[in-house]
Amino acid sequence: MAIRKIARMGADILREPAKPVADPTAPAVRALVRDMLETMADAEGAGLAAPQINEPWRIVIFHVPRARAAREGQDGDAEVPLTILCNPEIEVLSDEEEWGWEACLSVPGLMGMVPRATRIHYRGVTPEGERVEREAEGFHARVVQHECDHLDGILYPQRMTDLSLLGFAEEFHRAPPELGGEIAESGEEEAA
Ligand code: NI
Repeated sequence: MAIRKIARMGADILREPAKPVADPTAPAVRALVRDMLETMADAEGAGLAAPQINEPWRIVIFHVPRARAAREGQDGDAEVPLTILCNPEIEVLSDEEEWGWEACLSVPGLMGMVPRATRIHYRGVTPEGERVEREAEGFHARVVQHECDHLDGILYPQRMTDLSLLGFAEEFHRAPPELGGEIAESGEEEAA
């Protein structure tokens, strides 16, 4: 196991679509996932995608921490155990979008307000070969969309529609920006 270097915005690997995993139960996948888990824990992230550690495969890991679920205290923001998915696919279930702060381990120090679908269905296969299918809302849906975007070479700033709400987390925490119109505050950012 090893803590791996995290690729940062600008690196080619973060702009390229990742490749499907032919056999999610292969020993090489387990070894890679172990490094992803260790790297995410070290960086205190809520999620990580394989391209973020320079591996061009469709693998994501994520969780909704207990502290996060408790803070939100709404339906759809229940604690989600650590989940490992190969070849994840998302289906959007609602036309509705909601705004929320996001941060990314590949865009260190920054955070931004990102619109995301409120309700999704997702599926994928674990390294044990089990199929996972879930519906998700709230932060759970947000982190899954953020991670799966990494597999298509997309970083959260590319999903933003108001770039005045992209900035250094330190500054936004010191002086929270005024949110007008349709943009409503929703929770704190969590790097993923
Ligand atoms: Ni990210």
